[in-house]
Amino acid sequence: MKPFLKWAGNKYKIVDKIKALLPTGERLVEPFVGSGALFLNTEYPHYLLTDANADLITLYQHLQTEGEAFINYCRPLFTPENNDKDRYYALREEFNSTADSRRKSAIFLYMNKHGYNGLCRYNLQGGFNVPFGRYKRPYFPEAEMRHFATKAQQATFQQANFATTMANCQPGDVVYCDPPYVPLSQTANFTSYSADVFGWAEQQALAQQATKLAQRGIPVIISNHDTEEVREVYAAAEIESFEVRRFISCNGDKRDKAAELLALFS
Ligand SMILES: C[S@@+](CC[C@H](N)C(=O)[O-])C[C@H]1O[C@@H](n2cnc3c(N)ncnc32)[C@H](O)[C@@H]1O
Repeated sequence: MKPFLKWAGNKYKIVDKIKALLPTGERLVEPFVGSGALFLNTEYPHYLLTDANADLITLYQHLQTEGEAFINYCRPLFTPENNDKDRYYALREEFNSTADSRRKSAIFLYMNKHGYNGLCRYNLQGGFNVPFGRYKRPYFPEAEMRHFATKAQQATFQQANFATTMANCQPGDVVYCDPPYVPLSQTANFTSYSADVFGWAEQQALAQQATKLAQRGIPVIISNHDTEEVREVYAAAEIESFEVRRFISCNGDKRDKAAELLALFS
């Protein structure tokens, strides 16, 4: 099943590759859950799904606890009248100023489908600043949301930095980490998920925590671009490399092939 959100770097297309490496366990932990492509296509008894993006996690929590009522609450935002530049900017303004978390989550979903390329980007003050997307008929992902809501009954969602989530892992857990990609070039920094930057220090800290968890018998898989620098950081892991056709959002509709890797710390 496809995730109901558009999400830069989502792993829907390589779910089978990740699954082939994933050990079995009591609980799958995803410290960078994003749109939850792996969560939606695996069968673990329990899930701990976390992300630094508070808006994303709050949306999941509304869908998890309210199910159909929340879907019905979101639907009226998906009208032809709302597929309009001025309406989009008015709703974006409301999103950035409201304290009503239910309304904020519904607008977050609306902006994911009506904003430019489904990007999620904030300014330094934390305001959502993605421009209008000009889609013909934005899709209301009703069936996908319903599926997510059902599956979410096995999950716990938390807003957290990856380091906190990994520090809370227990034997019996299997951990899949999908951090923001390392940039392929100075100008290739195309994904900005929040005001905080995920740099080399974070990539290294993540690999160190993965090594420590593996020493405690908790397997960790990390995905990233396949570059020399990344392989150095993941020296303690078994590496599987493959090519992926990927949509690179800042280049309009350009599609590129890039080598990616999965690093298994076990
Ligand atoms: C490549 S995306 C994950 C995509 C996800 N696997 C999917 O299939 O949609 C990376 C995610 O990491 C989150 N993130 C960025 N910095 C983080 C941090 N320090 N701790 C936890 N999550 C972080 C972003 O909000 C984003 O959702």
